[in-house]
Amino acid sequence: MTTTINLPKIMQIGAGAINALPATLENLGCQYPCIITDATMVTLGYTDKITNLLKAQNIDYGLFSETRAEPSEDSILPAVDLVRQGKYDCLLALGGGSAIDTAKAIALLASHGGTMRDYKMPRLVNMRSLPVIAIPTTAGTGSEATQATIITDASTDEKMLCMGPGLMPMAAIVDYELTLSLPMRIAADTGIDALTHAIEAYVSRKANLFSDQQAIAAMKLIGQNLLRTCQDATDLAAREAVMLGATLAGVAFSNASVALVHGMSRPLGVHFHVPHGLSNAMLLPTVTEYSISSSPTRYAQCAMYMGLVDDIADKHQAHKALLSQLRLINTTLKVPTLAEFGVQKDTFYNTLALMAEQALASGSPNNNPRLASKDEIITLYKTAWESE
Ligand SMILES: [Fe+2]
Repeated sequence: MTTTINLPKIMQIGAGAINALPATLENLGCQYPCIITDATMVTLGYTDKITNLLKAQNIDYGLFSETRAEPSEDSILPAVDLVRQGKYDCLLALGGGSAIDTAKAIALLASHGGTMRDYKMPRLVNMRSLPVIAIPTTAGTGSEATQATIITDASTDEKMLCMGPGLMPMAAIVDYELTLSLPMRIAADTGIDALTHAIEAYVSRKANLFSDQQAIAAMKLIGQNLLRTCQDATDLAAREAVMLGATLAGVAFSNASVALVHGMSRPLGVHFHVPHGLSNAMLLPTVTEYSISSSPTRYAQCAMYMGLVDDIADKHQAHKALLSQLRLINTTLKVPTLAEFGVQKDTFYNTLALMAEQALASGSPNNNPRLASKDEIITLYKTAWESE
């Protein structure tokens, strides 16, 4: 049994890594990039940072600055036209997970045509597209190191998951200094998303020795620094640790898959527009408690790697420590309850069956150590509501 591992060809990591952008372009043989980003990145001056680096090397570029959070196919089509007509030879994806996911989809459609529905799972996207150089400005989604993109079909609200080596960025520039102006809410939500990636990859039925090493490192880096980085924005060591942890967690889940938390989380985004990291945070303690009995050693090890217990001699103690830490993270980082977020109880309960079906249809719950039936998923949603 062997494992196929996919990674970006180049990863430039650390403070000031962004300055290596021109050299990265040269190494990839790219000369005419198009920047794909959102309006906030322009306002915050991040786009200028990139264009100044390019201008200093006399590199011409294009710019599309209208990417959306939770991108829909409609929102990316103007960029597909721009990229095709401009004959750019690579894309610079600057921003959070949505901007990077958007750039992956633009590269795919600009290179091969069709619609995103043509490429959704279970089809494997293995054809080569325009190279994407991912420059994350959040420490969370790990999209810079994953072979996946999620694009919404606005007509059906379906979040279409597309996966395959053809969606892996060619390069990732992981510079934690680009995250220093993140608002606390976004730092918290994206950080919990990254922690969820690490835990789910570690307990996944598709985990392997390689993904385990990335997941363990990510749990250490994120688990031991997430609260610090959110509580003290000047703690640069913590910020650096969480940024690297988020990328490694991306590598881990890209090669081992996510599981039940993500499967149940996406429908909360579709029906109630809960941001991705927040919906994971709302579900993580409940789903972890449900799943522990099917992988007691691995969940105890999660507690150890997060620095909560010294060893796993007493698994019960380790499980207690893990669950209370996940709840403490939510309380400390002021993760709202579903009700506080504005979800109406009646609507929520009326949507439970549909959400459970959609969670199962995503395939992610099949990777969970404890396999949940539709009825069990409904119960878990209710528990998540009631335990708030
Ligand atoms: Fe995620």
